[in-house]
Amino acid sequence: MGFKEASSATIFCLLLLFCLGCRCLASELEATQTGTLKIDASPQLARKIPETLFGIFFEEINHAGAGGIWAELVNNRGFEAGGPHTPSNIDPWSIIGDDSTIFVATDRTSCFSRNIVALRMEVLCDDCPTGGVGIYNPGFWGMNIEDGKAYNLVMYVNSPETTDLTISLTSYDGLQNLASATVTVSGASNWTKLEQKLVAKGTNRTSRLQITTNKKGVVWFDQVSLMPEDTYKGHGFRTELISMLLDLKPRFLRFPGGCFVEGDWLRNAFRWRESIGPWEERPGHFGDVWHYWTDDSLGYYEFLQLAEDLGAAPIWVFNNGVSHNDEVDTAAIAPFVKDVLDSLEFARGSANSTWGSVRASMGHPEPFPVKYVAIGNEDCGKKFYRGNYLKFYNAIRQAYPDIQMISNCDGSSKPLDHPADLYDFHVYTDSKTLFNMRTTFDRTSRSGPKAFVSEYAVWRSDAGRGSLLASLAEAAFLTGLEKNSDIVQMASYAPLFVNDNDQTRWNPDAIVFNSWQHYGTPSYWMQTLFRESSGAMIHPITISSGYSGSLAASAITWQDSDTSYLRVKVVNFGSDAVSLTISTSGLEASVNALGSTTTVLTSANVMDENSFSNPTKVAPVKSELSNAAEQMQVTLAPHSFNTFDLALAQSKLVAEM
Ligand code: AHR
Repeated sequence: MGFKEASSATIFCLLLLFCLGCRCLASELEATQTGTLKIDASPQLARKIPETLFGIFFEEINHAGAGGIWAELVNNRGFEAGGPHTPSNIDPWSIIGDDSTIFVATDRTSCFSRNIVALRMEVLCDDCPTGGVGIYNPGFWGMNIEDGKAYNLVMYVNSPETTDLTISLTSYDGLQNLASATVTVSGASNWTKLEQKLVAKGTNRTSRLQITTNKKGVVWFDQVSLMPEDTYKGHGFRTELISMLLDLKPRFLRFPGGCFVEGDWLRNAFRWRESIGPWEERPGHFGDVWHYWTDDSLGYYEFLQLAEDLGAAPIWVFNNGVSHNDEVDTAAIAPFVKDVLDSLEFARGSANSTWGSVRASMGHPEPFPVKYVAIGNEDCGKKFYRGNYLKFYNAIRQAYPDIQMISNCDGSSKPLDHPADLYDFHVYTDSKTLFNMRTTFDRTSRSGPKAFVSEYAVWRSDAGRGSLLASLAEAAFLTGLEKNSDIVQMASYAPLFVNDNDQTRWNPDAIVFNSWQHYGTPSYWMQTLFRESSGAMIHPITISSGYSGSLAASAITWQDSDTSYLRVKVVNFGSDAVSLTISTSGLEASVNALGSTTTVLTSANVMDENSFSNPTKVAPVKSELSNAAEQMQVTLAPHSFNTFDLALAQSKLVAEM
C-alpha cells in the first residue's frame, strides 16, 4: 500500500470512529429507559424523619485528629511516642549538626509525672557552625506555614546555664527562613515554660520547626507545641476542615471510634481520663489498631467541644472492657463502670461536682448534653460483651435515666437478648450489594430498639479512593434509611477523614486532606444532598419502570428560612439514561417554578474520583428547574444522583407539623 492509499484508509477509519463516537455520545444523551415516579404528598401520609437522622462519625484513624483536624503542628510533642524506656526513638524529630557537634537522647527527667520522657540536648561544639546546632521537627509530613499568619510556640525547657535558643520556622531543608525569634533560657536548672509568637514572612507547605543554639552545654526540652493562632473559634481545630463538617449540617457526632476505642489490646485503648486537663500533662497513647501515636490533645473534652461547635449531639463511644485481643472479665468490670460514670459526670455534672469541676476548669462551666452512649464498638460476639454490657447499662440507666444506650449487637435480623435503646449496624460492602440494601430495613421488626447505622460505606474494588459509583450506591442506601426512619434513627458514613500521607490505613474516606489542601470525595458530596432530610417530612413514593432495578428514590418536604420545598431524590445506578415522569399528588401548596432547582452528581466515568488537582470533578451541579410542576418530565443521566427541589408557594404542610 502506497502512502496515499494508507492515508485515505486512515482518514476513513478516523471518520468511522468519529461517527461511532458520535452515535455513542448521542445514545448517552438520549434516554433509552422510561419510568414514572409517583409521590403522594398528602399530609396524612407524611411522616416526620427524626431530627437526628444524619450525622457524622469521627474516628482517630488515618491521622484524622493528630495531624488532621487538631491544628497542632509538632508531631511527638512530648518525646513520648518512642515509649517509656530510654533512650527512645524521637522520630520525627531530628538533629541539626552531627555527632561531633551535638548529642541528643531521651531521659526520664520531665517535670510532668504522667509523661516523664524529656529530650536532653548536649551541644558539644565550642565554635559551632554558623546558624548553630539543635533539633527540628517536620510535623505531620511538613507544616503548613502561611505568610502573615501567627504561630504560637510553647515549650518547657531546663538548663543549668543561661542559654539563648533560636526558634525558627523554615522550609523542610532549613534553607528558607520563614520566621525566627531568640528566647533566653535562664540557667536555673528548673523547668520553665517559654512562649513565643512567630509571624511568618513567607509561605511554605512543608515547613519545619527548628530550635538551635551556638552555646556549648545542656538543655532539656519537653512538650514543644506550635499552634496556628487562627483555629476554629480558638478551639484548636483546623478551620477549613471544620467548614467541611459544618456544610454537612451533622445532627450528631459519634466519637472517638471505632476500633480506636477498643484497641488491639486494652492497654492501648482510648482512655478519656488521660485525655483531659492541661494538654502538657496528658500522657498520650499509641493507637495500636491504626498504628500511630496521638498525644491526645484532641481528647474527650475537645470532642465534646467539637460537637457543640458543630451543633451536633455528642455520642460517646466508650470501651466496655473489650479490645480486639483481650477482655476484662465481667466479675472485674466494676472499676471500668465507675470510670464511665465519671466520664458522664465530667460531661454533664454541675461545675461543683468532682468531675464537672474539672470540665469547668478547662473553660466549660456549662454541662455538655451527652444523651447517647455506645457501649463498645463491634464487640457483640465477644465472650464478656453481654455481661459487661449489662453492668454498664444498669449503672448508667440508674444514674442517667435519659441517656440512650447503644448496643453493639445487630437487632435488624433478630431481637436482642438484652435491653437497649438503639443497636449499632455497620456495613462496608461493594456498590451493588449496598445499592440492593436500600430495602434492608423494609423488613426489620418495628418493635424493640431503633437502628443506628453508625458506619456505612462502599469499599474495596469498586470504591477506589472514593468513586462516583460508591457514592451512588450509598445515596440509594440512604434513601432506604429515610423511608425506614421510623426504625432507623441515625446514620453516619465512615471513615470521615484521611490525611493523604496516611492513605494505607483505610480507603475510601469522605474528606481527604494534607497540611494545606482538602477535598470531598463523591461520598462527601452525596451526603450534602441529605443534609436537609433530618427533621423533614417524608412521603410515600412508587416507581414504575422496566428499569426500576437500577433506580432508587425518596421524597421529602423540607424548609429553609422562608420557603418550603418538595425534594425528590433519584439515583440512577444504571448505565442508561432515563426519561422519568415525576407526578405529585396531595400537595396542599402550588409548585413555583421560580425558585425550584435541580442538582446532579455525576461524571463522565463511573469510577471518576476527586483529587487535590481536581477537587470538584465529581461534585453536585445545581441549576434552575424551569419546568417544575406537579407533573414534570426529567432526564436522569446514566450513573447519576439527582435532586429536584420544587419550591412550594405556601407552606401549609409545615404549618400543620
Ligand atoms: O471505619 C473504620 C473501622 O471500621 C472502624 O474503626 C470499625 O468500627 C470498623 O470495623
